[in-house]
Amino acid sequence: MTEQVMVDPISAEGVSQRIAGSDTWILRGCSVQLPRAGLTAIVGPSGAGKTSLMYCLSGLDRPAEGRVLLDGTDIYRLGRERRAKFLRDRVGFVFQQYNLIPYLTLEENVLLPEQLAGRRVPRDESTQMLARFGLEEKRTTVASALSGGEQQRAALCRAMLLRPSIVFADEPTGALDSANSQLVLRVLRDLTMQGTTVVMVTHDVDAAALADRVVFMRDGAITGVTGPLDADSILARMRQLPADSTREG
Ligand SMILES: Nc1ncnc2c1ncn2[C@@H]1O[C@H](COP(=O)(O)OP(=O)(O)OP(=O)(O)O)[C@@H](O)[C@H]1O
Ligand SMILES: [Mg+2]
Repeated sequence: MTEQVMVDPISAEGVSQRIAGSDTWILRGCSVQLPRAGLTAIVGPSGAGKTSLMYCLSGLDRPAEGRVLLDGTDIYRLGRERRAKFLRDRVGFVFQQYNLIPYLTLEENVLLPEQLAGRRVPRDESTQMLARFGLEEKRTTVASALSGGEQQRAALCRAMLLRPSIVFADEPTGALDSANSQLVLRVLRDLTMQGTTVVMVTHDVDAAALADRVVFMRDGAITGVTGPLDADSILARMRQLPADSTREG
């Protein structure tokens, strides 16, 4: 019998971060709970701390204060090796940059995590996934010769093949034209239908408007969490935030 544990897949409690060796805080008391199988967009101006929060949430950067629970596990209380294994088994990442190893081919990059995990992806599964992202013709191209958008899609493809229960994507459509953005957003949405929890940072309000939940950030703090909003409401809310946040000091 499988145990039914009703914990949020992602829970951050009072996460604060500062730049190593300085008193500059880049995250201030960020708390957020994200339910299973949702698509969450994190929005806010450049420098708001979106990437920094994502690093803390995804186990890549230990916060100076606070804790992060993924599927109920306090990840920074795990030892380094157990944390690495925990994350490898259930978390997929797509970073804002430097996603691929430049001297490996696209396909080698895509298959690398499974190989490191000692798993084998059936050939037709990886071929199908590459086709889904329109990358089949670039299979044997070295990553350094791929366009930014191709690299971004390859990174997503790699994350998908691991069948993670949580996917973090930083600006997943940032390097893409509108057709490819649509494609990537569709894939992220499909993933949530399969039960995956997806968190994306985005500057694109149209992309954020597809989310089930929008997390607003400014000056290292979460200033609001809402349900789905249309693009105009997201923009309006982002614009109105400075006045509100200065009032709070
Ligand atoms: N390692 C670091 N050393 C110094 N400052 C840092 C470091 N990492 C982040 N910062 C600073 O922290 C703030 C938040 O950065 P972060 O990358 O999280 O912003 P962001 O919201 O993702 O911005 P963008 O939309 O431009 O990607 C910025 O002011 C940034 O300069
Ligand atoms: Mg960023």
